[in-house]
Amino acid sequence: MTDHKHLYWHQTKITREQRSSLNGHKSFVIWFSGLSGSGKSSLANEVERMLYDKGFKTYILDGDNVRHGLNRDLGFGISERRENLRRIGETAKLFIDAGVIVLAAFISPYHEDRQMVYSLFDKQEVIEVYVKCSLEECERRDVKGLYTKARKGEIRDFTGISSPYEEPVNPDCVVETEVLSKEESAKQIIDFLIESGKIE
Ligand code: PPS
Repeated sequence: MTDHKHLYWHQTKITREQRSSLNGHKSFVIWFSGLSGSGKSSLANEVERMLYDKGFKTYILDGDNVRHGLNRDLGFGISERRENLRRIGETAKLFIDAGVIVLAAFISPYHEDRQMVYSLFDKQEVIEVYVKCSLEECERRDVKGLYTKARKGEIRDFTGISSPYEEPVNPDCVVETEVLSKEESAKQIIDFLIESGKIE
């Protein structure tokens, strides 16, 4: 464990509130959790497009992309998934401090790890979205061919097959991507953001 006792926090002259006010809106994180192939990335992209069209400053953090760079050293074991999410949580925090709305799309399969990430933020700064889609449907879609490989044993610790997915217990939004179109799903989130006073 690194010793942090000689580190000091530098207060910036421009505050988060000032950055948010310059952007003209609050900053917060929308956390999309769900199985591989449930539609997290598509949904986050559609919500981002709708927010962008309304003039909001946004940024997407997405599992596949973050694992190409910042988290390229991490695999899919329990502790590595936890570290993956911890780093992403800290990254999202920086964006929130910059006054930006973050859309985070990660399988985030463990209840405890999601709670660990959310604890980095104030309660009103996090919106949990459960991107709900049955394993059967995700496997049927198999957009990347990963389920087929996982069933053959070519991928270890694959979520839903050889590694668990714990459903969110009390999410702010449950989006049923098996039933709704991409546009309807995104509209559900936008409506929630308006109703809960996150955006105007
Ligand atoms: S996690 O569980 O939150 O740390 O996962 P995440 O960072 O979101 O990464 C998920 C994407 O990685 C690909 N992939 C796997 N997913 C699950 N299990 C295993 N073993 C695995 N190996 C590779 C896969 O493309 C996931 O992307 P999505 O968009 O979820 O399909």
